[in-house]
Amino acid sequence: MFYCAGNWKLNKSTVEAREYVRALRELAKSDEADNLVVLPPALVSFEVAAGLSGSSIRWGGQNCYAEAKGAFTGENSAVTLKEMGASFTLVGHSERRQIFGEPEDMLAKKVAAAQNAGLTPILCVGETQDDRRWNRTQEVIVRQLRQGTQAADPSRPLWLAYEPVWAIGTGLVATPEQVEEAHAILRRSLKEWSATHADETPILYGGSVKGENAASLATLANVDGFLIGGASLDPNEFLKIYRASKSAGA
Ligand code: PGA
Repeated sequence: MFYCAGNWKLNKSTVEAREYVRALRELAKSDEADNLVVLPPALVSFEVAAGLSGSSIRWGGQNCYAEAKGAFTGENSAVTLKEMGASFTLVGHSERRQIFGEPEDMLAKKVAAAQNAGLTPILCVGETQDDRRWNRTQEVIVRQLRQGTQAADPSRPLWLAYEPVWAIGTGLVATPEQVEEAHAILRRSLKEWSATHADETPILYGGSVKGENAASLATLANVDGFLIGGASLDPNEFLKIYRASKSAGA
């Protein structure tokens, strides 16, 4: 299995979301649809859910709160996402960590809340440029993985995304060697979390993935898919990445 998840971030109006989903359904063949995931902003989720009803293309949130309800102004719950038909939610995307200052202990609770609601959390980890420069990549991603999975149930699905912060939205892509090394580290660390489920936990790579660089990364050991930002905003480009990965043998 090779997965492509499109992180729309804060892009697309309701009309654009509807049009995107219609186009993606039309363009994706049925054996491709199973492996595609779209992650729209919360406010257009309804359009996406309605547009994907009856399709095997799945969708998810970009974030969820750790509690199902209560006095948490501005937040969205995993339970409601699930109720609306979501299958996934991102947790701990670097933009949430950096721009919104999400603390790591909160992320562990979000992962557990997502799993309890029946969603598959996609826990994002990744080092900054400085971390890499100072040789802290391994330390940082292992710490983020351990923290984020502290309360996670190994018998329920969990996905990981390795997204070096310096590669997100910058056009800089990690080299195949860097990606392979980081994914191998994550796979080993996952075994501490669950010896039995580590191998079946998909690890996606994210950071400036495009149609042109997809093939060289897709076939690397321990790369089970991509988390794609900018290039996922056009359904043709999104599918081009998936198809390039499959033709490369992913
Ligand atoms: P990018 O974003 O593909 O635009 O680099 C990836 C992400 O933030 O998930």
